Amino acid sequence: MISIPEEFQISTPIVQDTYLVNGELKKWTGQTTPVFSTISSTEKYEPTLLGSIPFMGETEALEAVTAADVAFNNGQGLWPTMKVADRIKCMEKFVTQMKTTRSEVVKLLMWEIGKTLGDSEKEFDRTVEYIYDTIDSYKELNARSAHFSKVQGINAMVRRGPLGVVLCLGPYNYPLNETFSLLIPALIMGNPVIFKPAKHGVLLISPLLEAFKSSFPKGVINILYGRGREVASPVMKSGKVDILALIGNSKSAIALQDQHPNKNRLRLILGLEAKNPAIILPDADLDLAIQECIAGSLSFNGQRCTALKILYVHETIADEFNKRFAAKVDSLTFGNPWEKGVSLTPLPEKEKPAYIQELIDDATKNGAKVINEKGGQHSANFIFPAVLFPVNKNMRVYHEEQFGPVVPIMTFKDIQEPLNDMAESNYGQQVSLFGKNIKTIAPLIDTLVNLVSRVNLNSSCQRGPDVFPFTGRKDSAVGTLSIHDALRSFSIRTFVASKDNDYNNEILQALLNSKESNFINTDYIL
Ligand code: G3H
Repeated sequence: MISIPEEFQISTPIVQDTYLVNGELKKWTGQTTPVFSTISSTEKYEPTLLGSIPFMGETEALEAVTAADVAFNNGQGLWPTMKVADRIKCMEKFVTQMKTTRSEVVKLLMWEIGKTLGDSEKEFDRTVEYIYDTIDSYKELNARSAHFSKVQGINAMVRRGPLGVVLCLGPYNYPLNETFSLLIPALIMGNPVIFKPAKHGVLLISPLLEAFKSSFPKGVINILYGRGREVASPVMKSGKVDILALIGNSKSAIALQDQHPNKNRLRLILGLEAKNPAIILPDADLDLAIQECIAGSLSFNGQRCTALKILYVHETIADEFNKRFAAKVDSLTFGNPWEKGVSLTPLPEKEKPAYIQELIDDATKNGAKVINEKGGQHSANFIFPAVLFPVNKNMRVYHEEQFGPVVPIMTFKDIQEPLNDMAESNYGQQVSLFGKNIKTIAPLIDTLVNLVSRVNLNSSCQRGPDVFPFTGRKDSAVGTLSIHDALRSFSIRTFVASKDNDYNNEILQALLNSKESNFINTDYIL
């Protein structure tokens, strides 16, 4: 046996034999799918059985659609018409219960997706904070809308209302945090949700099921298990989905949209692929650039949509940059997520090492070299990050989003070269720009902000802090997520207006005084 601290051991597999639909944790007696971790608990490598999940199909999918549809009830349901303060209370109840599951969820994050202990804890804590910040932001939004405006003889109270049923699908690299960055704003704005956890990072939802069940009215949150094709497709085909909220890959997003019979009804909130470049100018502080490019390209083994996926280094500094960058990559430690000081960890997708190897083989066939000694070394569940140089456009690694441990480096002579490549690219999420001279940087920033949605100056790309807008151009995203923007994305402006005359004003005043309406209401929630 290898040594695993007691608190992180999987003593008995988790058999997830219930699913949440219509406010009930229903027993599942049908077919199940085993959940394995690519982390071994024995000396001789062997994937670890973590538990099992239901393999659901159309019947359960439609059961969830009906529950969510009834909960919305064309906007007349309890949840969409509830007072803002009461929806907030439900969310507070949920987060209070969620906090008690921290150690269990963190342990499963490590086993299911191989995220380091520190990063798993960060993912959990960041999510809790996100929920509290969302509550505060919603109170603010509510306070800002709690008044009438009079324009051209019309009094109006403008608020934001829910849109309807949301299908929520999150990614495996942030199975808790990014899924909740969709789920939480969707719920709090009054939309019922159908949520299917990601392929990896699914059992870590189990400790939260009871909290979901007891915090929200029936049908408001429905949780299904199984494959996208079997479960998400029938949900979309039902035509009852108003928002597709997905962080993941564009092929699934397109396939799901295509299945919706009424496309104009469907709002999309998507976080998709990216190929974020770093541009390293000749006057860049190399220590800083290398440090940021290491974190940017290899945090969580490069499995981040915001990861730096291609480095453009000015030709005059490429030798020096490559030598130091390659040495730094080789100094990174690989190990199991709970081990002290590890930064590289097992890859949760068992086919990923072979895919990365394909990219390396293709690049070396087309003229690149692996410039770090350990690059491409295989172990049972890992491939050591390969730094590839010089990369050109004939290589797959130039075009494909590697989402894993391989770092392609290109050189440029004229800054127009990376700018043209970015303009031609199908992606447009972020860029990292390293340099100092403001005469060079200023016009570059002015161009880059129109090619991507975030320019990181002498810093790696990242999504946080969550108050900043997270979005992308072209095929990288649809809609904007941030604590504030997500509330807008999951709602629509809707308002009550009436001509300014004594008759109407008396009615409005009576509505306000009586507090009979949850919408025409000027209550502040502190
Ligand atoms: O997978 C993409 C994530 O949105 C990246 O988020 O920058 O916080 O790691 P992060």
